[in-house]
Amino acid sequence: MRRFLVSGGAGFIGSNFVRHLLNAHPDYHVTVLDKLTYAGNLDNLLDVQDNPRYRFIKGDICDAALVGAIHESPDRPHVVVNFAAESHVDRSLLDPGSFLRTDVQGTYVLLEAARKHVVELFLQISTDEVYGSILEGSFKETDPLNPSSPYAASKAGGDMLALAYHTSFGLPVVITRSSNNFGPYQYPEKFIPLFVTNAIDGEPLPLYGDGLQVRDWLYVLDNCRAIDLVIHQGAPGEVYNVGASSERVNLEVAEGILRVLGKPRELVRHVTDRPGHDRRYSLDSAKLRSLGWAPSRSHEEAMEETVRWYFDNQWWWRKIKSGEFLEYYRQNYGERLRGGQPLG
Ligand code: NAD
Ligand code: TYD
Repeated sequence: MRRFLVSGGAGFIGSNFVRHLLNAHPDYHVTVLDKLTYAGNLDNLLDVQDNPRYRFIKGDICDAALVGAIHESPDRPHVVVNFAAESHVDRSLLDPGSFLRTDVQGTYVLLEAARKHVVELFLQISTDEVYGSILEGSFKETDPLNPSSPYAASKAGGDMLALAYHTSFGLPVVITRSSNNFGPYQYPEKFIPLFVTNAIDGEPLPLYGDGLQVRDWLYVLDNCRAIDLVIHQGAPGEVYNVGASSERVNLEVAEGILRVLGKPRELVRHVTDRPGHDRRYSLDSAKLRSLGWAPSRSHEEAMEETVRWYFDNQWWWRKIKSGEFLEYYRQNYGERLRGGQPLG
């Protein structure tokens, strides 16, 4: 039996990972610690809520007393996996402070508790955005960090702190840095679920700038398999990039979504670009692949499955696309869409 503390487990990747862990390892127990911010959602975990090997604690990773109490309880974790973060670049341009608090200070609180209470492994979930933009070639784990947005800078801060805890205190820290994920249960402010759900409703798809930016897309279930592998075979103090080498131009992704749904190209609107928008992300994942990981399906298969999931699970996202979401949508897109140009 092995006990896991999964912080941020009610978010997009965290909830997919909790489901993966419970299914793949019948002797593993999972405690999810999640603040349930606008992005956290217990609907993401409905199908595991009655599993006796799962329990949920609502709370903030910045709350040192709570994190300490979890480590002191009879269910104290052997392994900590930290997904908890403020995670959306556009929101980090509107409110950087909340990113610093959770992504840096919160990571510190988790690291400090793990050091004090001695865990087997501390896995920090990070992002390719810490490397910044790259026009040619791909980033390796040894490349310097050069973050562009407050989100990426905060994640870089969390990474540096985690590595410092390994170097200074011998805490068994491992970091995964994945590229852009997509799949079921992704909050519909991110590019793919926003465009899929807007397209289903015949609403405009707000494409930033010329739409020729490149992202290296990764199906979320393949990321979960990669994280599982790194937990079992990763070496302490090491960083592992997780990318499927499925680079696509944003415009191409938008057109693919419209094709699967049978919707017109004219729904795409070119809108004012994101400030500091990274042009291209690209990861060299040879280190992970040498442990035996490879994507389970092609990008096109995974995209089609994903579009179908949002089409079939409108109960999940229609609830979210109200209230707070609409307020954010107006703030980030109102002006942009008023000046937006349909695809030529
Ligand atoms: P998400 O926004 O969907 O989920 C984040 C979760 O963390 C939510 O459930 C939220 O309630 C919780 N949370 C936020 N602040 C908290 C706090 N202070 N205390 C406790 N819980 C808190 O994010 P995601 O897309 O699932 O990303 C998960 C992790 O993976 C993040 O660390 C992110 O930086 C990283 N990542 C994401 C992607 C991607 O494409 N989505 C790519 C690479 C890395
Ligand atoms: P996003 O999902 O926000 O991920 P990230 O910025 O972390 O890579 O965006 C993915 C790409 O899609 C990025 O190049 C920005 C672009 N994008 C748009 O063109 N329009 C949008 O409304 C959003 C949310 C993103």
